[in-house]
Amino acid sequence: RDDTYFQSIIDTVPDAMIVIDETGFMIAFSPAAEKMFGYLAGELIGENVNTLMPSPDHERHDGYLRRYRETGNAQIIGKGRVTTARRRDGTTFPIDLSIGEAEVDGIRIFTGIIRDLTERHERTRRLHVLQ
Ligand code: HEM
Repeated sequence: RDDTYFQSIIDTVPDAMIVIDETGFMIAFSPAAEKMFGYLAGELIGENVNTLMPSPDHERHDGYLRRYRETGNAQIIGKGRVTTARRRDGTTFPIDLSIGEAEVDGIRIFTGIIRDLTERHERTRRLHVLQ
């Protein structure tokens, strides 16, 4: 299968997809991710994934990756995590983060899938107000 096959999948998945190398530099950013975060892929390729999160994770994320490289002890890979992300304009929003790991041509990459939970949280809030 050629690259356009995978590109067409990445282009149509409604959840944001972000690929990083093992030091946290972004190497792919899907169209859904562009919409979710307010950046164009071209602006973020080569930037640290910590651009997309608020403190204290922003300062700590390099350390999380280092810890995982050194110990192999996964906290999110294979489990998922509900956490908080940050848009270009600085506003934050709740996300469901899934992370996968793969090796491509001898290089270790991580694939992140992000679902925006804003609507789900808003619906739950309204339900509570109604009760
Ligand atoms: C680890 C937060 C995005 C890859 C972590 C940890 C936190 C975190 C808190 C450490 C977990 C712990 O030790 O308890 C976030 C936040 C994100 C984000 C708030 C919001 C945008 C991403 C993305 C990727 C990624 C998009 C990959 C494309 C990793 C990896 C680890 C990690 C590989 C270490 C492995 C593991 O603990 O399972 N992240 N992250 N992160 N993150 Fe992120």
